[in-house]
Amino acid sequence: MRVLVTGGAGYIGSVVAAQLLAAGHEVVVVDDLSTGHADAVPPGAEFHQLAITDLDPVVGGWGIEAVLHFAAKSLVGESTTNPALYWHNNVVGTVALLDTLRSFDVSRIVFSSSAATYGDAVEQPIREDAPTRPTSPYGASKLAIDLALTDYATAYGFGAVSLRYFNVAGALHAPAGSFGERHATETHLIPNALRAAGAGGEFALFGTDYPTPDGTCVRDYIHVVDLAEAHVRALDAAEPGRHRILNLGSGRGYSVREVLDTVGTVVGRDVPVVERARRAGDPPVLIAANDRARAELGWAPERDLATMIADAWIFEQRAAEPD
Ligand code: UFG
Repeated sequence: MRVLVTGGAGYIGSVVAAQLLAAGHEVVVVDDLSTGHADAVPPGAEFHQLAITDLDPVVGGWGIEAVLHFAAKSLVGESTTNPALYWHNNVVGTVALLDTLRSFDVSRIVFSSSAATYGDAVEQPIREDAPTRPTSPYGASKLAIDLALTDYATAYGFGAVSLRYFNVAGALHAPAGSFGERHATETHLIPNALRAAGAGGEFALFGTDYPTPDGTCVRDYIHVVDLAEAHVRALDAAEPGRHRILNLGSGRGYSVREVLDTVGTVVGRDVPVVERARRAGDPPVLIAANDRARAELGWAPERDLATMIADAWIFEQRAAEPD
């Protein structure tokens, strides 16, 4: 298939683009490079530096059959102080993209949704039919698009799949290159812990008084390569007139302290931890029920936490090397 990958110069988009190419698809990447990196676009993909709102005049000539839509603002904290950025980029921008696709009869779409659509879930593990009560504008923006996709599937025959990611980690190391997390503002646990252990800086641990076994937050980590594999399958699973919503997680949780211990083992040095107050908006526990993705995609996560951390560590060390 000839597929459009929006946000294909970002972390998850670049890994999925590389895996789509490896699976034999043709890939066209659009990315405005507001947070992505041009050199993260995998070799073999066609690249256009464009915003998703500027596709209308050009995309008709590209012969696109399907879209994987990653382009988005994705910092939960930033979304609480600048919600307009999130409603414009993630919601207004995506609706414009959907209407552009509609005018060119492209109706197969895989969307990057998020566990942030659920907010503080009452029951763990979280199933797709759990209540959606996002606690941030970021989560609300992802939920708004999930709702729009249901309507576009029902009324316009879109074949849509929303993949609700839990905590994505790791990197892809492939013959085409290495693809991983290179955020200018790094908020995520694993890269921050690796940098602190590797470079000897301090790691700020946000909250040690949660109602969890060791007092730190519990999250469900999924390797970005397992996540990419689910996208390749979701592309084939998209059916006209149907919107599937599928969680992508491993189905088991690790506390922040358990992750820090594994980072210490991988790097060979303990992470220098400084305990801090809770970070606003962090739910105590987020664990995915992944039965639906297993059943509907014939998919299963295969890479464990130590593999995610080891792959991320290789990527961090390469990124730190001079060119
Ligand atoms: N943490 C620290 N120190 C850090 C970074 C993180 O203690 O420097 C803690 C957080 O407080 C949290 C855990 O590590 O308890 C995981 O934090 P991340 O920022 O790595 O991930 P989140 O669970 O906050 O966020 C992830 C995705 C978001 C998504 C969210 C859904 O990265 O995009 O899940 O809740 F919105």
